[in-house]
Amino acid sequence: MPMKIAIPKERRPYERRVAIVPDTVKKYKSLGYEVAVETGAGGEASFPDELYAAAGASIVADTAVLLRDADIVLKVQRPMSEGEGRNEIGLIKSGAVLIAMLNPYGARGDLDTYARGNITAMSMELMPRITRAQSMDVLSSQSNLAGYKAVLDAAEQFGRAFPMMMTAAGTVPPARVMVMGAGVSGLQAIATARRLGAIVSATDVRPVAREQVESLGATFVMVESEETKQAETSGGYAKEMSEDYKRRQAELIAETIKKQDVVICTALIPGRAAPNLISEEMLKTMKPGSVVVDLAVEQGGNCALSEAGKVVEAYGVKIVGHRNVPSRIPVDASSLYARNLFNYVSL
Ligand code: NAI
Repeated sequence: MPMKIAIPKERRPYERRVAIVPDTVKKYKSLGYEVAVETGAGGEASFPDELYAAAGASIVADTAVLLRDADIVLKVQRPMSEGEGRNEIGLIKSGAVLIAMLNPYGARGDLDTYARGNITAMSMELMPRITRAQSMDVLSSQSNLAGYKAVLDAAEQFGRAFPMMMTAAGTVPPARVMVMGAGVSGLQAIATARRLGAIVSATDVRPVAREQVESLGATFVMVESEETKQAETSGGYAKEMSEDYKRRQAELIAETIKKQDVVICTALIPGRAAPNLISEEMLKTMKPGSVVVDLAVEQGGNCALSEAGKVVEAYGVKIVGHRNVPSRIPVDASSLYARNLFNYVSL
């Protein structure tokens, strides 16, 4: 009997991605797996059932039938539990392997449920951020697209153009964009804003970010101190900074932000609430028509007044807080995520 891989449809709100694409169906098949995909699983990512079938997957309408004999279950988000109205975890057979972004810090209770159901649960967010694991790194593949999309979301809300344009009717000045946090999404936001012709600056607490920011043609601004020498963990992540550092950083941001047209916030600290970087007082000093995109909104936000799922207008500034930004570019986000999973499973 070949091992069976099953891919249920994602049912959480705002989720448009899917954990397998027709291209990876073929790859699993060539390794000898049987692949079953739930009806409509790829619909929101422009992968209709026919493409999966043509690639060799069977299409199953009933989630319970799909999962009851599946050895490996691939998902984007964690399956729903009994308390959420639809008990997806309960449909997974004992002994199966579940691979998804399980949100292990935010949804600790689920871990007990997996254990009780004898499900081997693998959380893709916990992949080490090392060179050897890059092809399986879902945080990178998804954050990269989120950084790109954040700039387009800003451009959509912005009543002006990004590039400088010299026209017969006069000159349009270039937009000034500032990126807070120069990790994977921040660096892609910088690159995207530069491609659109903006003048870009960025800040971070990790001094190593300077070279990466400058190599993309942006200006790096940060508060340098003894503390920033230890601001990076061995895993490359940022630490929470001291109160004194936060005060000095706030002064720098307050001074810089007045001159910006667009701010893209991407600063995160793993397992903790996102750092508050833009206060309401700072918003008051921004130019009317400015736009802030808060990619950290679902982790508490980098910007005061940002609200998940909303575009808030305050003091003439639009504060964009879209949920699940990778899902706003579902075709590429699914393709890269599916490839990350395939690289992991095949290994
Ligand atoms: P993240 O999503 O956890 O955070 C985003 C950025 O926010 C980081 O650059 C962080 O330093 C910054 N930040 C946190 N607190 C801040 C504050 N108070 N003010 C300003 N900025 C703040 O980070 P991400 O994108 O997941 O990257 C984490 C690290 O992993 C980076 O060093 C990255 O280069 C590294 N990485 C390495 C890979 C590899 O294969 N070698 C692959 C992917 C990432």
